[in-house]
Amino acid sequence: MTQSNRRFLLSKRPSGAVQRDDFTFEQVSVEAPGDGQIQVKNLYLSLDPAMRGWMNEGKSYIPPVGLGEVMRALGVGEVVASNHPDYKPGDHVGGALGVQDYFTGKPEGLQKIDPNLAPLPRYLSALGMTGMTAYFALLEVGQPKAGDTVVISGAAGAVGSIAGQIAKTKGCRVIGIAGGMQKCQYLKDELGFDGTIDYKSEDVLEGLKRECPKGVDVYFDNVGGDILDAVLSRINFKARIVICGAISQYNNKEAVKGPSNYLALLVNRARMEGFIVFDHMKDYGKAAKEMAGWLDSGEVKSKEDVVEGLETFPETLLKLFSGENFGKLVLKV
Ligand SMILES: NC(=O)c1ccc[n+]([C@@H]2O[C@H](COP(=O)([O-])OP(=O)(O)OC[C@H]3O[C@@H](n4cnc5c(N)ncnc54)[C@H](OP(=O)(O)O)[C@@H]3O)[C@@H](O)[C@H]2O)c1
Repeated sequence: MTQSNRRFLLSKRPSGAVQRDDFTFEQVSVEAPGDGQIQVKNLYLSLDPAMRGWMNEGKSYIPPVGLGEVMRALGVGEVVASNHPDYKPGDHVGGALGVQDYFTGKPEGLQKIDPNLAPLPRYLSALGMTGMTAYFALLEVGQPKAGDTVVISGAAGAVGSIAGQIAKTKGCRVIGIAGGMQKCQYLKDELGFDGTIDYKSEDVLEGLKRECPKGVDVYFDNVGGDILDAVLSRINFKARIVICGAISQYNNKEAVKGPSNYLALLVNRARMEGFIVFDHMKDYGKAAKEMAGWLDSGEVKSKEDVVEGLETFPETLLKLFSGENFGKLVLKV
């Protein structure tokens, strides 16, 4: 029986938040893999804020998704057919599989994963791209030292929650900024954060004065905008600011709102540095091993928010921007 492949193609460049009609959702027959190719049944897809950026025209750290192309997405799946000597049916792999039921192509860039070592969605969270982001961005750019005050925005999300827990393993005082009481409670009660600021119900500057009486040594920024400005006004001498993301700006129709408080960097001889996880690919193995150790010991906990149904892709992606996701957002195909 010929299998069919449901897939989302990018059909126009979104303006503001994505809409269903920015995509074509179609069903085509699955083609057999060619020479040197494999076929993967996609099982879980990673939904990431970066996907919004990949839909824009223009220069970035990777080329944009072309119009008419399958929407790019990281995912994990099972090999169902192979014309490649290194892969056999039943193997599990992770990598850029696309928003579709089946990936067919050369396995370059895909990694084998072991479903017996961890549940598959975890290869998209703590053991995957977002976990690697938290690890390298915090440790290499943030350079936390015992006793430092580390503030993290988007703290209850995939990257933020892991970054905060890694900072705890280094003996830091960790303050999370997140939207809503439930997320703030989770950070303190479940993940051991020292304090939280609910940016949806309180003034962030007042919260920073309360939670960081000695100022901020490391700021791990996932959201940009007004929150970045507020934190800049509280940084310490030689503070490190990790520009990991700026989700508050991704759906802007106008220019990105940059920090107006940047002279705080000059006054404090502080540093603000951009970060892209893909620069660290060669070291993922080492980091994943350490992460697996923390997960085993319970020092780091990983939470995945799994939504079912490939067909819900555009609406599910929007959850990242409304804050409806609680943990790493994963789409079960
Ligand atoms: N540089 C890299 O290599 C790299 C790699 C991966 C991710 N990132 C970045 O890391 C950040 C977090 O990504 P993630 O995958 O971990 O997503 P996530 O935090 O799991 O989900 C996004 C969260 O952002 C918060 N948010 C949305 N709009 C906001 C706004 N206007 N102001 C403040 N918070 C807002 C929401 O939480 P609340 O409920 O708390 O509002 C939402 O749950 C993103 O900026 C992403 O682009 C960067």
